[in-house]
Amino acid sequence: MCGIVGYVGKRDCADVLLDGLSRLEYRGYDSAGIAVFENDEIKVAKSKGRLADLAEKMRREGKPQGCAGIGHTRWATHGEPSDRNSHPHSGSRVTLVHNGIIENYKRLKDFLLSVGRTFASDTDTEVVAQLIDYYYEENHGNPVDAIVKAMKELEGSYALGVIFADFPDMVYALRKESPLIVGIGEDESFIASDVTAILQYTRNYYLLEPGEIAVLTRRGAKVYDLHYQQIEKELKTADWDVSAAEKGGYPHFMIKEIHEQPTAVKTTITPRITDGMPDLSECGITPEKLAAFRRIHVVACGTAMHAGMVGKYVIEKLAKVEVNVDIASEFRYREPLVGEGDLVIIISQSGETADSLAALRLAKELGAKTLAIVNAKGSSIAREADMLIYTHAGPEIAVASTKAYMVQIAVMYLFAFELALAKGAIDEAECRRLTALLQETPAQIEAILEQKDHAAQIANTLITADSLLYIGRGLDYALSMEGSLKLKEISYIHSESYAAGELKHGTISLITENMPVIAVATQQKLFDKTISNIKEVKARGAKVVLVSRDSYVPEKDVADFKFGLPDFEDLLMPMLAVVPLQLIAYYTAVLKGTDVDKPRNLAKSVTVE
Ligand code: F6R
Repeated sequence: MCGIVGYVGKRDCADVLLDGLSRLEYRGYDSAGIAVFENDEIKVAKSKGRLADLAEKMRREGKPQGCAGIGHTRWATHGEPSDRNSHPHSGSRVTLVHNGIIENYKRLKDFLLSVGRTFASDTDTEVVAQLIDYYYEENHGNPVDAIVKAMKELEGSYALGVIFADFPDMVYALRKESPLIVGIGEDESFIASDVTAILQYTRNYYLLEPGEIAVLTRRGAKVYDLHYQQIEKELKTADWDVSAAEKGGYPHFMIKEIHEQPTAVKTTITPRITDGMPDLSECGITPEKLAAFRRIHVVACGTAMHAGMVGKYVIEKLAKVEVNVDIASEFRYREPLVGEGDLVIIISQSGETADSLAALRLAKELGAKTLAIVNAKGSSIAREADMLIYTHAGPEIAVASTKAYMVQIAVMYLFAFELALAKGAIDEAECRRLTALLQETPAQIEAILEQKDHAAQIANTLITADSLLYIGRGLDYALSMEGSLKLKEISYIHSESYAAGELKHGTISLITENMPVIAVATQQKLFDKTISNIKEVKARGAKVVLVSRDSYVPEKDVADFKFGLPDFEDLLMPMLAVVPLQLIAYYTAVLKGTDVDKPRNLAKSVTVE
C-alpha cells in the first residue's frame, strides 16, 4: 500500500526511482510520481495510472535529470486517483512523499488555511508538506527542526521521504507505523518501503524506527533522534538476493511463488526441528511456557486468518486447547475476552497490517502473551510481539498470497505438535511421527505441482461462471475459505466458501447449472458426509470439481472433474490440497486475462485500517 523510494548518489535518479518503484508495484497503487533535483531545482513528474503511464509522460514532457530525489506509488485514500492527488506534494520549499494516513489532517489543514496556505490537492499528504514548510519558514531554514516540530503535531501513520529546495542532493526520511528502510551503497544511499526496491544496488540497510530521522547524502546516511542527537544504527544485511524478487522465467510472480512452496516449507521448518522433534526454543517458545497457556486466540486478516483457521482445527484436535480465530479488524473493536493465561497469535506476511498490529497491541494491553508468525524481517509486528517465529518464504511479490500461507500453516503444525506434547496430549512417539510427516510435505507438494496442466484444464471450464461455491468439512472447510478468496481476488469471479453441511440451511437455493461447486474432500472421517453433500448439489445441476485423494474413484453422479492428491495423513492434507486450489485460481485468472500479480483495488501490505 503506497511505495516509497528515495535516492542520493551518482546514478540517474529518475531511473533508480522508477526501477525501485517497479519492484514495489506489488504493494498496490493507482498513481505514481517522482521529484528530482535538476540543477539544484526540484522537478516533479507525476501521473495517474501505472508506472508505464508515468514513464510515457516523462518521455513526452522530459525526464527530470539529476542524482537525488524521491519517488512514490500511491494507493488512494484521501482523494481520488488523479494527477493532482499523486505524490510528491509540495509546500513552497518542501516536497515529500508519504505512505500512511494522517488522522488529524482536517484540523491541521484548517490551521494552515487560517495562516494563508493554499492547497492544490485533496490529500492528507499535502497537509504534511505544508506543515513542514510552515515550520521551515518559521525557523528560517532548519530542515530537521521543521520535521521534528511537524512530527509532534501529526497523528496517524506515516513514512515520509522529504526534500528541501535549499538542500539539493539531500534526502530526509522518517516514519511512524508505516515501514521505511535506509539502504547504504557505495557512494550512494537510498530509502525504500521495503528492501526489495533496492536489492539490485545494495543489500545493506538500516531499519528506521519511529521517532528517528535519517539524513541521506551521497556519502551515506546519518540517523538522528528528535533532539538531533546522532544514533548509532546496526547495519543489517538482507538475506534475499535480487533474483528472489524477480520472476525468474515465470510469466507471473504468483506462479513462481506457488512453485517456491516446497523450498519455502523446507527453509521454514528445518531449523525448527532438532533430532526429529519440533524445537521452537530459538523463537522464545519453551515447553514450560506452552504448558501454561489455557486458551489461544489467532488474530489475522485475509489469507493469514485462513491459516489461523487451519491452525485451530489442528491445535484443538492434537493439543485439546481451545482456539478462537478472529479477524483482526473485528477483534480490535470487539472488547474481546482476552487476558492473563491466554496466548494471542498474530499471523502476518508483511508484519505491517494495521489491524493486526493494533490487535497485537490490544492483546498485550489486556495481559495476554503474544506470538507473531511473520514473514517480513524487522517488521512492526515482528518487533512488538513477545515471541516470534519468522516464516522463511522469501519476498512474496504477488498480491495474492500463496507461499506465505503455506509456510504459515507449516509453522502452525510445528507449533501444534510442540504444544500437544507440552500439554501431554500426545506422546513423544506421536510427535516424532507427525514431525517426520511434515518433513515429507515438500516432496508431496512437488509431485502435485507436476499436475498443473490438469489444474489449467479445470480452470478453463470455470472462466464463464459468474459465481462459484467452495465447500468442505473440517479442515477441508478451512481450506475452502482460502481457495475461494484466491479465486475471487485475482479472477474477479464471485465465490463463497461454505461448510458443506451448512448448504441445506439456505445456500443450496443458489445452486443451478450456472453455479459451479469446488468440493474439497480429503478428510477420511468426514468423507462420506461430504460426498453426500456433493451429490445434493450435483443433483441440482451444479458442475462439480472435486479435490480429493487419488484413492477415491468418484461414482458417475459425483464429480465432473477431479483433481487427485496423494494419500497422506488427514491432519496434514491442507498442505497438499491448497496447491490445486491456488493453481485453479491462478489459471482461471490467466485465462480471463486479469492482472494476476496486481489485481485491481488491492494492496499487498494493508497499512491503513
Ligand atoms: C490475500 C492476501 C491478504 C493478506 C491480508 C493480510 O491473498 O494476501 O488477504 O493475507 O491482507 O496480510 P498480512 O499477512 O501481510 O498481514
